Amino acid sequence: MDQVFTNLGKTRSILMTISFHIKVHLSSRKTTIGIVYGHVYAKDQIIFKDKLNIMSTKSEKRVFKKLGYNKNESEKIVASLNQLLANYHVHYQKLRNFHWNVTGGDFFDLHEKFEELYTESFANIDLIAERIRVFGMTPYSLMKDYLKYADIKEVSTDLSSKEMVNEVLKDFQILVDNMNDCAVKVADLGDSATEDMLIAFIKSVELHHWMLTSFIKD
Ligand SMILES: [Fe+2]
Repeated sequence: MDQVFTNLGKTRSILMTISFHIKVHLSSRKTTIGIVYGHVYAKDQIIFKDKLNIMSTKSEKRVFKKLGYNKNESEKIVASLNQLLANYHVHYQKLRNFHWNVTGGDFFDLHEKFEELYTESFANIDLIAERIRVFGMTPYSLMKDYLKYADIKEVSTDLSSKEMVNEVLKDFQILVDNMNDCAVKVADLGDSATEDMLIAFIKSVELHHWMLTSFIKD
């Protein structure tokens, strides 16, 4: 009897895990796809092995992989990440520009805020570039490439403090669009690690967007 309860407990636990994974993927993507493998072990032996196929609305399957992407998949992921890298680099340098050159009654608030933002951008840039290296490819590393491929554009050094904040808010919109596009692409390729990284970025940018929007509200 004890053995039965033990097995039931393990089975229920595994099924709950499978259910959890299904819910996560259902809630994270409208077109849920995937293959979920469930394994229940008892006394080091597999007593149950099942494969659940969840058909997507597009009749396609997402295959989840731990490591290893083919060349075509890697190139798609890296192209999207390099676009984000270019945007982030130009954004980063704009924040340094604003940190150094902001003037007026908001100086102390914005001087510090811009530093906080460029410090975060600096860290995120490194994460993106190193994620690209995980795929064995080369991140954009030259200033001319950042300026060439970025949607975010440089501005002059003599903006008012309010103009600077508005520039940063515009940049946030471009970055979040870029991040969301990239997150959808990598998720469709089963690249959960990049998706996770991007979702963290999106959360943070959205928070900064709210705060700066509140700051300049009349
Ligand atoms: Fe400084």
